[in-house]
Amino acid sequence: MQVVVVGLGYVGSVCSACLASRGHTVVGVDTSAFKVNCIERGESPIVEKGLGELISAARANGRLSATTEIAKAMPGADVVLVCVGTPSREDGSLNLDHVKRACAEVGSAIASTGKFTTVVMRSTMLPGSVLDELTPVIEQASGGKAGEKFGVAYNPEFLREGTAVDDFNNAEYTVIGAGCDRAGDALKALYDGVGGELMVTSIPIAEMLKYVNNSFHALKVAFANEVGRICKREHVDSHAVMKLMVRDTKLNLSPYYLSPGFAFGGSCLPKDVRAIVSRSRQHNLELPVIQNIIRSNDVHVEDAIHLIERFKQRKVGFLGLSFKAGTDDLRESPILRVIGTLVGKGYAVLLHDPNIDMERVLGANRRFVEDEVPYLPERLRADLREVVESSDVIVVGNRAPIYREIGSMMRDGQVVVDLVDGVKRESVVRGEYHGLAW
Ligand SMILES: NC(=O)c1ccc[n+]([C@@H]2O[C@H](COP(=O)([O-])OP(=O)(O)OC[C@H]3O[C@@H](n4cnc5c(N)ncnc54)[C@H](O)[C@@H]3O)[C@@H](O)[C@H]2O)c1
Repeated sequence: MQVVVVGLGYVGSVCSACLASRGHTVVGVDTSAFKVNCIERGESPIVEKGLGELISAARANGRLSATTEIAKAMPGADVVLVCVGTPSREDGSLNLDHVKRACAEVGSAIASTGKFTTVVMRSTMLPGSVLDELTPVIEQASGGKAGEKFGVAYNPEFLREGTAVDDFNNAEYTVIGAGCDRAGDALKALYDGVGGELMVTSIPIAEMLKYVNNSFHALKVAFANEVGRICKREHVDSHAVMKLMVRDTKLNLSPYYLSPGFAFGGSCLPKDVRAIVSRSRQHNLELPVIQNIIRSNDVHVEDAIHLIERFKQRKVGFLGLSFKAGTDDLRESPILRVIGTLVGKGYAVLLHDPNIDMERVLGANRRFVEDEVPYLPERLRADLREVVESSDVIVVGNRAPIYREIGSMMRDGQVVVDLVDGVKRESVVRGEYHGLAW
């Protein structure tokens, strides 16, 4: 394919060389004459393992060239990859000025060619950037509509400096947020045979993914370093701890616990996080990530309360009381804090849980009910239908299978608030569905 790469920094120069080595014809563009001259001489403009060899080979076989002018590079382009910088402004917000300027120039060039060109943003940018801020720039400059005269796409860049060439060739997956089928098809052809599994999704999902990935990577580093700091005070070998921690690929390094849902609870997580936080305070240690986990969880519970109250309905039915389906353990179940708040405010609350039968609640759990949730026995109903029919807002608080199709019991005017992603959306044909964080 004929590819134009705008911006020959860390991302653009690696993309240019790797795509040229895959047989595409690449023209790189940069406002910096230094970088353009480097490429023209067959040298890498940046220090990156293996890149110099690729650029020199691609120059020699005529697959790679460079210019300072977008207009000169554009004739014949099938795909334009925009890889210019998106720096932070002083207040931390994202500066799209360079990308906008590049898009305006690309758009002007598209105006004078009859060819359908796919403009792909590779620079890191927040959701909404491509469709709300950059597409209008290209449309205005080209005089055409996205999806007709040109295509738009977002293709997040996951390369790590130092191993970028290897990351390009052995990527876990390549993600394409495609604005139209033609744009998606162009990128599928571009990445044919390289970049791991190809995942096509929407542009905002692809934009957000990049930030979620980088936030998670940053969180991992900060978390591991905090573990190191407390381990050192405890005279425990932090590397030995983390080596064992990462060996558990079922609960630790896995998709488990990584799906947006309701707050954590139960008899272990809150207690154990509190204990390690308390120990860190004894050491006068600042561990901002670990020390704020409970706060983050509390905010999530508060958010659930706000969402339920937003509907201004007084009759609320809660389905699922234990912190997870399939247990009758109510200790530290976060939904009880939501229920307690609404009961305290005088809401007419009814409750249902398939695993909780007051006659059978024994031992520690019984004492917990008597001390902490004395309102529970008189509000608990065995009949799910009774709770649904008597409520204007139905809150699903755990993923018991019997709540999955709860929509089929609902009538017009009712609202279901799903705190756990446990309700099949299609079952809600009457009334409204609202998810807590989706
Ligand atoms: N560096 C990385 O490892 C990495 C990884 C993933 C994503 N990203 C993202 O990719 C983007 C680019 O990062 P980078 O590190 O390659 O940046 P960089 O600063 O190294 O390169 C950007 C290049 O764009 C050029 N440029 C700016 N405006 C231009 C214009 N109008 N026309 C032509 N060229 C122009 C600059 O001269 C510069 O050479 C950023 O959004 C960054 O966040 C970077």
